[in-house]
Amino acid sequence: MACGDILAPLDKQHRLAADCAPNDLRQVAGGAHLRAEAAVALGEMFAAGKQEKGFDFYVNSGYRSYQEQVNTYNYWVQTSGQAYADRTSARPGHSEHQLGTTADVAARGLELEAFGGTAEAAWVAANSYKFGFVVSYPDGKEAITGYASEPWHIRYVGKGVAQQVKDSGLTLHEFLLK
Ligand code: DAL
Ligand code: ZN
Repeated sequence: MACGDILAPLDKQHRLAADCAPNDLRQVAGGAHLRAEAAVALGEMFAAGKQEKGFDFYVNSGYRSYQEQVNTYNYWVQTSGQAYADRTSARPGHSEHQLGTTADVAARGLELEAFGGTAEAAWVAANSYKFGFVVSYPDGKEAITGYASEPWHIRYVGKGVAQQVKDSGLTLHEFLLK
């Protein structure tokens, strides 16, 4: 996949080169980093969540290099076994986090699975498209996306594309490959 293409399909079949890394990373709430355009859009989303609902969002994990994904994937293999790891973690080169446009959103110290089912997660599901983000791995779509539900994991695709994905009813995986 072309390095730097924010619409690059990334799944179990499609990957980035190990040396593909963004050059415009910015720090976001929580200390993680995202590419500039995604960081600005996420800041707008967090501000809207604060204004509308009083939510205090932050990012638990943003950009991850190829090597960081090696460590992340291996951690899950070692702690939970390879079958579980492959349902919940991308193999190195295959993670949307390597793009620098993807964030794991958290609030009130509730991260990953603990974020699921919160009012904040429901707001992200309903509103993130307005800011150009898509929830990559929706509930009930594991057979299509290859990953268990991740209500915290959002990828920036721009407002126009995010609206199109929403209108299509497709997962981002299907939309980017059609
Ligand atoms: N948790 C997602 C699939 C990733 O590792 O990118
Ligand atoms: Zn993620």
